[in-house]
Amino acid sequence: MKLREKPVDQLGAAEAAEELTALAAEIRRHDELYYRKDQPEISDAAYDALRQRNEAIEAAFPELIRADSPSRRVGIEPAGGFAKVRHRVPMLSLSNAFGEDDVHDFFARVRRFLSMGVDEPLYVVAEPKIDGLSISLRYEAGRFVQGATRGDGTEGEDVTANLRTLADVPARIAGEPPDVLEVRGEVYMTKPDFAALNERQDAAGAKRFANPRNAAAGSLRQLDPKITAQRPLRFFAYSWGELSAPLADTHWHALQRLEAWGFPINPLAERCADAEATLAVYRKVEAERGALDYDIDGVVYKVDELALQQRLGFVSRAPRWAIAHKFPAERAQTVLEDISIQVGRTGALTPVAHLKPVTVGGVVVARATLHNPDEIARKDVRIGDTVLIQRAGDVIPQVLGPVLDKRPNGAEPYVFPEVCPCSLRTPVVHEDGAVVARCSGELACPYQQVERLIHFVSRDAFDIEGLGEKQVRSFFEKELIRTPADIFDLAEADRESLTPIRNLEGWGEKSAENLFAAIEARRTIPLERFVYALGIRQVGQATAKLLARSYGDLTSWQDAMLAAAAERRANPEETKKPELVGEHYRELCDIHTIGMSVADEICSFFSEAHNLKVVRDLEARVSVLEAERPQTADSPVVGKTVVFTGSLETLSRSEAKASAEALGAKVAGSVSKKTDYVVVGADAGSKAAKARELGVTTLSEQDWLKLIGRA
Ligand code: IVH
Repeated sequence: MKLREKPVDQLGAAEAAEELTALAAEIRRHDELYYRKDQPEISDAAYDALRQRNEAIEAAFPELIRADSPSRRVGIEPAGGFAKVRHRVPMLSLSNAFGEDDVHDFFARVRRFLSMGVDEPLYVVAEPKIDGLSISLRYEAGRFVQGATRGDGTEGEDVTANLRTLADVPARIAGEPPDVLEVRGEVYMTKPDFAALNERQDAAGAKRFANPRNAAAGSLRQLDPKITAQRPLRFFAYSWGELSAPLADTHWHALQRLEAWGFPINPLAERCADAEATLAVYRKVEAERGALDYDIDGVVYKVDELALQQRLGFVSRAPRWAIAHKFPAERAQTVLEDISIQVGRTGALTPVAHLKPVTVGGVVVARATLHNPDEIARKDVRIGDTVLIQRAGDVIPQVLGPVLDKRPNGAEPYVFPEVCPCSLRTPVVHEDGAVVARCSGELACPYQQVERLIHFVSRDAFDIEGLGEKQVRSFFEKELIRTPADIFDLAEADRESLTPIRNLEGWGEKSAENLFAAIEARRTIPLERFVYALGIRQVGQATAKLLARSYGDLTSWQDAMLAAAAERRANPEETKKPELVGEHYRELCDIHTIGMSVADEICSFFSEAHNLKVVRDLEARVSVLEAERPQTADSPVVGKTVVFTGSLETLSRSEAKASAEALGAKVAGSVSKKTDYVVVGADAGSKAAKARELGVTTLSEQDWLKLIGRA
């Protein structure tokens, strides 16, 4: 399509609609070429011009904004954004050994399998198990042509463009590599780079990463390779996939060839002659672990001789010739200096341990969760105690318990506060025997208000760039924002303010303008994000999506929820049968995976005047897009005949039927030659047999869900 030159203010509505349609298709095509195929056809400037034209027309004709408009894509889901790559050689996992006994068993198993005498040497290579994410790099004729994540082992995501930004991934291999060479290994981020990235995230108002592995994964799975390029990712090679010619006779020599071709190989890898030598490497690596620049979670042992590996083969999804000897979680002792109470979005009170900063496995820990009042009482941790803490993989550090012989004299058992730490000092309630303590102040509690705002702007909700936790807290303290609607009045209020945001510490003209633009960009929002952003208890992203799909638009959803809430208030006692509560309530409970407990949370949200005001105020400021309805035109099952048989796990029979029909399929009661698919549940009888007899495709429930895009 050629970009039309007609000035926007001279376009008629029909012309504008036509051009928006064409632009949506055109921009999507270029996105595909750029993101999925890595073969853009136009320059960045030409692409930007298309987007600007689209935006200008939309600004002039807001009523014509399309459901699939490029301007509406609030950060495309990465999972859907990458093309799939089939691994020609599957990417496997490893079985684990948790102690020396398991390691001796491994050696004995290998010897037995190979009928090796006790004196015959059995070499293994021991190498650190890097805590990152595994990827496969494909080279053809020495050139890097494709890189993919592991995915489910058979199919991963195409992240070629992102991997090209890594200095550790050579674009070309010098020398004479095999024509087809797939190098496999781990992408990771160093601990110092991780700490620095989190600081940058803070400054930008973006969410912190929980650990280096998440940071590496998040950085690699960016749809924009320019972002990946700014993230310091590294790579270690330790394995390979498809090869047109063997690399070597042993794993050890294969690693050396990879190294000679420019791939980083972990320097701690060693070749060992027996189990004892292997365990010696384990102990050495474990001792060095904390001082290493990157996270490792064990040592991998691999039978060195490739011919033996070949003979050993695989059991299910792991090779018989390798094992991962895992490290125990890293622990340290430090002093518990204080316990503070954190108030969550829904008023749950979480005790937080304030620790004398201590390095655990190379990461400085100063905070840890104590979960709830019961947990503190059970462990009897007291302020002033020296405590044992543990950092295991990706979880927040835990306090395991006090070191009793270091307990100072006069340390008192911790008394959980009876009032919320907020300025209202509302009483703390312990819900019907539940371990959770809650502030009873509900929406009046300023702590809950702040947490709700933080949730509201978070990545999966309104996702407002430059407005993260830090900024929300600061604006809340300065009383610039109190409720979600205030965010959308911020720019206007700022114009009249005596202390405008640009004058606040850490802000300037430019950053304030950027913030207002980012807020403006979210004035249009998909219904599912809107629902999720409200922060209703038990309504996470998945439930929000279901609600949006079921009710379609904000008005229908809100009307139905108000009606259901009224029914519930009139019938508070019924605990089993939704239909006895009322029609709208039953409809809500009928949605797949929404039961009475979730429905009750939604009803109590809609029974609260304050919440209704929040929704109303937002409605006046943002436009909420209708949910996307399943499109039958490009449905994979349109016109197909489907038979369901046996008992299905996640779908009721009527639901299965309805969903198939909504996608344009015909549902039949018996199997014939005309049947396209038979979906076979548990204990299926004659219909499944008949399908096999007639050669009709049979699908498991999971296959079916995958086919219709629901799994
Ligand atoms: S070998 C067929 N070596 O661990 C064997 N894996 O639990 C393929 N990993 O998915 C894996 N360091 O992400 C191997 N030195 C190493 C490793 C390693 C980390 C990861 C890899 C794999 C997972 C299996």
